[in-house]
Amino acid sequence: MKILLTGASGLLGNAYAEAAIRRGHKVIALYNTTEPIAHGIEQSIQIDAQQLDKITVLALELWPDAIINCAAISSPSDVDADPKLAEKINVALPRHLSQLSTHLGARLLHVSTDMVFDGHSAEPYRSTDMPSPSNLYGQTKLMAEREVLEHNPEDPVVLRIPILMGNSINGQRSAHEKLLAAIARGEQPKLFCDEIRQPCSASNVAEVLLELTERRDLHGIFHWAGAETMSRFEMGQRILQHFDLPLNSVQSVCKNDDPEFANRPSNLTFNLHPIVSKLKTKPATFEEQLEELSHVEPLRSPNR
Ligand SMILES: NC(=O)c1ccc[n+]([C@@H]2O[C@H](COP(=O)([O-])OP(=O)(O)OC[C@H]3O[C@@H](n4cnc5c(N)ncnc54)[C@H](OP(=O)(O)O)[C@@H]3O)[C@@H](O)[C@H]2O)c1
Repeated sequence: MKILLTGASGLLGNAYAEAAIRRGHKVIALYNTTEPIAHGIEQSIQIDAQQLDKITVLALELWPDAIINCAAISSPSDVDADPKLAEKINVALPRHLSQLSTHLGARLLHVSTDMVFDGHSAEPYRSTDMPSPSNLYGQTKLMAEREVLEHNPEDPVVLRIPILMGNSINGQRSAHEKLLAAIARGEQPKLFCDEIRQPCSASNVAEVLLELTERRDLHGIFHWAGAETMSRFEMGQRILQHFDLPLNSVQSVCKNDDPEFANRPSNLTFNLHPIVSKLKTKPATFEEQLEELSHVEPLRSPNR
């Protein structure tokens, strides 16, 4: 298949490009500031995704079989810092890609987040549960889901995913990279023991996205996550153990003890039905996710 991939330089986009190329697909990789590195990319093209007219021209020229949208302002704090940009990349871009995919007859896969939920549920969220985001990032992602479904009613896939593990191109985007970089700066990061998550590796999500790219019989909103649930603090402890670092490099804190953090989602775990029984890919265990991680460079700094 000819696949147009946005956000190809991101944590997930890079993993998807690698997986799709391994399976023999032609990947045309779009990026903004960081050149994609996946070996075997058909073409890498720099486009600021705010320029929707350029994306239209490119899509009509290439006429891809599938469009995979991994581009986003993916950090809640970056969304808060520049809500206008976030609206353009997180909402206007997916709306436009959805319209284009309908015109082209292309398969559209859009990536969303567990943060469309407020985390108040005691049960793992089902894909049919009513979203209710508690931050602006989650709101933009929910708006995008609705745009995608509205403008491509026949064949869209929205895949909601949890916090991602893995190795990013610039070494700054995944959970372990941010944690180890903070420790290397001499900080003792605070991790919440009452924030429950279901982390997954970017490579595992990429395999799921790839199966969904090829499976035109599956459409709608799906949930995917790792095989285990744990607190953010436990995640941190297991990352430290994996890298043989002292367990007291992070602090355990309770978000419910501090009103500043009270609004953060407590429980963002997913019920993976129905796709877990329809795909060959299985949710990755946390040990499998840890085994893929590279050590982050700053930890080897003599100034540490
Ligand atoms: N990471 C997580 O833990 C997580 C959790 C849940 C859901 N998600 C979702 O998963 C998807 C992928 O996230 P990720 O972690 O791979 O994000 P990421 O590493 O931050 O990558 C974001 C990608 O978007 C591109 N991008 C941003 N602004 C752009 C612009 N103006 N024009 C063109 N491209 C632009 C970036 O390009 P450059 O790098 O070239 O600037 C990069 O390729 C997103 O939809 C995100 O919301 C992520």
